[in-house]
Amino acid sequence: MRPVVEARGLWFAFDGGEPVLRDLSFSVERGERVGIVGPNGAGKSTLVWCLLGLYKARGEVRLFGEPFRRQLLARVGVVFQNPEDMLFLPSLKADLALPLVNRGIDRQEADERAREALARVGLSSLEDRPASSLSLGQRKRAAIAAALVTSPELLLLDEPTAELDGRAARVLAATLVELGATTLATSHDLTFLDRFATRLLVLVDGCIVATGPTKEILSDAGRLESWGLL
Ligand SMILES: Nc1ncnc2c1ncn2[C@@H]1O[C@H](COP(=O)(O)OP(=O)(O)O)[C@@H](O)[C@H]1O
Ligand SMILES: [Mg+2]
Repeated sequence: MRPVVEARGLWFAFDGGEPVLRDLSFSVERGERVGIVGPNGAGKSTLVWCLLGLYKARGEVRLFGEPFRRQLLARVGVVFQNPEDMLFLPSLKADLALPLVNRGIDRQEADERAREALARVGLSSLEDRPASSLSLGQRKRAAIAAALVTSPELLLLDEPTAELDGRAARVLAATLVELGATTLATSHDLTFLDRFATRLLVLVDGCIVATGPTKEILSDAGRLESWGLL
């Protein structure tokens, strides 16, 4: 079976700057939960934007075995590091039901699925509140629920635990494991990665310097320190 995500020889630099991604290649197979771990400024968010075609990298990105095209993004659930205000309706439930209604799902089922997604991230009690009234961590969890609600074939999450407390991060890891969807998440939260990821890619200065099973990578304190992760 072809990988769900394939990046081949990606190079990217912001205007006139040094390359931020340098000949980066990796793939994610169906059912894998891959963590991209790296210190601040390593290029994790830039890579996410390149995978989504928002920044134009040199090299090749394939999604679901096909060369990148915007239409393929309908099959991807995305949470950006700083989710812009994607949630703007009078209630979280309405925000989450909207993409389902837009896909032709009837209102009642859309509401049901919206409630389920909010329950998964522990926001059931806030389903009638607007996103604007929530804390940053709660908004991030709502954005994660919004990424899950359409049951996408691929989840792409940039620093999903950055604003979460320990418990919410633990619940998120458990939720992602239980969902079993192919997931690619950037993070420098080693505790979250240990719970969530089946495999890690270590990104330092725009290069993948190591990859392997999560336990294997996380058990080598000397290397973690040399990468700026401990
Ligand atoms: N819009 C931008 N313009 C110029 N440089 C940027 C921009 N965004 C990020 N960078 C630089 O690119 C590098 C990688 O950033 P980023 O992808 O955000 O890293 P990470 O997500 O791993 O913390 C950093 O050196 C950062 O300063
Ligand atoms: Mg980032």
